[in-house]
Amino acid sequence: MGKYAVFGNPIGHSKSPKIHQEFAAQLNEQIDYSAILAPLGGFSQSIESFFKAGGSGANVTLPFKEEAFQLVDSLTQRAELAGAVNTIKKLDDGSLLGDNTDGKGLVNDILSNKIELKDKNILLIGAGGAARGAILPLLEQNPLSITIVNRTATKAKALVRTFSRFGDVSGYGFDELPCKPYHIIINSTSASIDGKLPGLDSKYVNECILGYDMFYSQNKTSFNTWIEQHNNNAVTLDGSGMLVGQAAEAYFIWRGQSPNILDVVNKLKAREL
Ligand code: ATR
Repeated sequence: MGKYAVFGNPIGHSKSPKIHQEFAAQLNEQIDYSAILAPLGGFSQSIESFFKAGGSGANVTLPFKEEAFQLVDSLTQRAELAGAVNTIKKLDDGSLLGDNTDGKGLVNDILSNKIELKDKNILLIGAGGAARGAILPLLEQNPLSITIVNRTATKAKALVRTFSRFGDVSGYGFDELPCKPYHIIINSTSASIDGKLPGLDSKYVNECILGYDMFYSQNKTSFNTWIEQHNNNAVTLDGSGMLVGQAAEAYFIWRGQSPNILDVVNKLKAREL
């Protein structure tokens, strides 16, 4: 039986233990997965004692993803580019590998909902940590382009400098955003947390087939409501699928088995987890 845990502060709200137990039950496996409240300033000690005590893998959530990035012995390319680590695996030689499964979680959720990213124009709203982690996994799906739009245009342009070697990536402020058919519109801003909209003009949603809000709440998010108001044909998804998707990818990294996402998302939405 593998021993796993999620580290964060606060951590009481975390759904990760229940999500991982769902995966284990689905796959007929047994795991030990707990939630650990790491003290602010005491994250590295918490992680060290966990792995010394036989831990096999850890998830890392707010506010420790950047600290985890510094702490691990090696990084996957996607974690390096994301600048943040949300999954740690203890390798056979005892060293700690840092990965970032958030972006893959987003991609897997979209694909599980039978929406293709290949040959689509993606509009990514926001240029913070959540956007940064999503760009490489999105580009791996061979979209036509990724356009980043952000309240602070310089942050969007900085991301373009990092990622343009991997595909067609451009970045703008809201007032200079080109009008083109954006098929997939992803909101990575924290505006939804306060029920606010990120500031996109509705003229950009005419060709949208999917509105995706990385934020997750029990009710429809303000952004998804807004998308649906301006485009009858658009499907909307929220971050619950991404939450389960990033966990599924972590489970795969640790245990080599891919759990089914949709069943667990449905349970989460039905408040059964
Ligand atoms: P995260 O790591 O979750 O992405 P972050 O790094 O704080 O969080 O980034 C938050 C993102 O939300 C940023 O793109 C921010 O825009 P700025 O770079 O201009 O600050 C964006 N954001 C937050 N509140 C917003 C709002 N009310 N309207 C538009 N964008 C907002």
